[in-house]
Amino acid sequence: MFRMSSSPDALFSPPLRIGMVGCGRVSPRYMAGIARDPALSLVACTDLDPERAEALASEYGVPTTASLDELLADESVEVILNLTPPDQHLDVCKAALLAGKHVYSEKPLTNTRNETTEVLEFAKRQGLRVACAPDQVLGWTLTTARGLVDEGAIGRPFAATAFVMTHGHESWHPDPRAYYASVGGGPFFNRAPYYLSALLWMFNSPVEAVSALGGTTFPSRVISTGPLAGTEFPVETETHINAHVRFESGAMASIVTSFDVWGTVLPRIEVYGTKGTLVLPDPTHYSEPLRLLREDGSDETIEDASGDGEVYGSGLRDLGRALRAGEDHRLGPELAYHLVDAIEAVHDSMRASAWKPVQSGIGDIRG
Ligand SMILES: NC(=O)c1ccc[n+]([C@@H]2O[C@H](COP(=O)([O-])OP(=O)(O)OC[C@H]3O[C@@H](n4cnc5c(N)ncnc54)[C@H](O)[C@@H]3O)[C@@H](O)[C@H]2O)c1
Repeated sequence: MFRMSSSPDALFSPPLRIGMVGCGRVSPRYMAGIARDPALSLVACTDLDPERAEALASEYGVPTTASLDELLADESVEVILNLTPPDQHLDVCKAALLAGKHVYSEKPLTNTRNETTEVLEFAKRQGLRVACAPDQVLGWTLTTARGLVDEGAIGRPFAATAFVMTHGHESWHPDPRAYYASVGGGPFFNRAPYYLSALLWMFNSPVEAVSALGGTTFPSRVISTGPLAGTEFPVETETHINAHVRFESGAMASIVTSFDVWGTVLPRIEVYGTKGTLVLPDPTHYSEPLRLLREDGSDETIEDASGDGEVYGSGLRDLGRALRAGEDHRLGPELAYHLVDAIEAVHDSMRASAWKPVQSGIGDIRG
C-alpha cells in the first residue's frame, strides 16, 4: 500500500476573523475545523433560532449575537461564513456585503444564475471578496488525485462517471421540503456542486455543454422525523437526473444523481485516462482513500498518512491567505458562478430535451 501525507499550507497572520451565520447541521463541522486552525478565529455566531446558536457556541466557548444585524455591526468581523440554507444565501450574502464584510458561503452560492450574478456584481462594486464551497477540492483526497493526474499516473484523462444514488432526505431531515422545491431542489442542485467541482479539478477545464434526462418517480414524499413527521408534501422537481457533461478539454462525464433509489453498489467517481483509472471516494469528504488502477493491472490504494482526517475550513484558510497576501483566492467568483450555470443548464436541458451550452469559465482554479 502506497501512502502519502498532505502538505500543510503556510501559516498567515493575523488570523482571519469570522462571523458565522446559521448554526444548523453543518455548523459543528466548521466550528471544529476553525477551532483547530490557528489561522482562523471565530468571533461570534448567530442563528434565527437563538437556542440553537447558544448550544453550539457554548460547546466551543464562542459568543453569540442576537441577530445577523448585530453580528454585521461587529467591526472586528472580516468575513461572514454563510451556513444558512440555499434559499437564504442571496439575502445573507447581500447583507454581509452591504456591511462591508467579505463572504464565504456554503454551496451553491445562490439557486439561480441571476441571483448569483446579483451577489457577485454587488461584491465587485463594494470591492469585497466572495468565496464559495465546496472546499473539499482543497482537501487531501482531491489534492492528491489532482497531483496524480498532473504527473501522468493515468495518462490523459478523457472521461469520468459519477453516481449519487440516494432516496432523498425525508427519512432523516426534519424539514426536507426545500430539497424537492421547483427552484434549488432536486439531487443535481444538492449534490452536483461536489461532484462537478471534483471533475473540474481533475480535468482542469470548464463545462462546455450538457445534455440531461430527468424524471419525478414519486409525486409526493412524507416527512418521517421531527415535529413535522407524517406531513406529506408534493415533489416539484425532477428527482432522478442523468446528465452528460462535455468539458472544454474534450473530456466527457456521465453524472447520475437520484433521490429515488433505495440501494446501490456503484462507485462514487471514476476518472478514466489513457493509462489507467482513478477511483475517487464520495467528494463530500476530505480525507478518504483513493484507488489507482494502472494499465499493467496493478491496483493501489492510496491513503492520507497525515492523520488530519476530515478538516473543514480549507476554503476559509485559502481566503485568509489570499486576503493577507493580496492575491486571488481559489474558490472564487468565476467558479461559484460556473457551478450554478452548469447546474441550471442541466435543468434547462432536461426540460427542453436539447443540449445546452455553458459559456462561463472557471478562472485559475488551481492557483
Ligand atoms: N460542506 C458540506 O459538507 C455541507 C454539508 C451539509 C450542508 N451544506 C450546506 O450548508 C448550508 C447549511 O446546511 P445545513 O444542513 O447546516 O442546514 P440547516 O437547515 O441544518 O441549518 C441552517 C441554519 O440556518 C439558520 N438560518 C436560516 N436563515 C437564517 C438567517 N437569515 N439568519 C440566521 N440564521 C438563519 C436556520 O435557523 C438553521 O439553524 C447549505 O447551503 C447546505 O447546502 C454543506
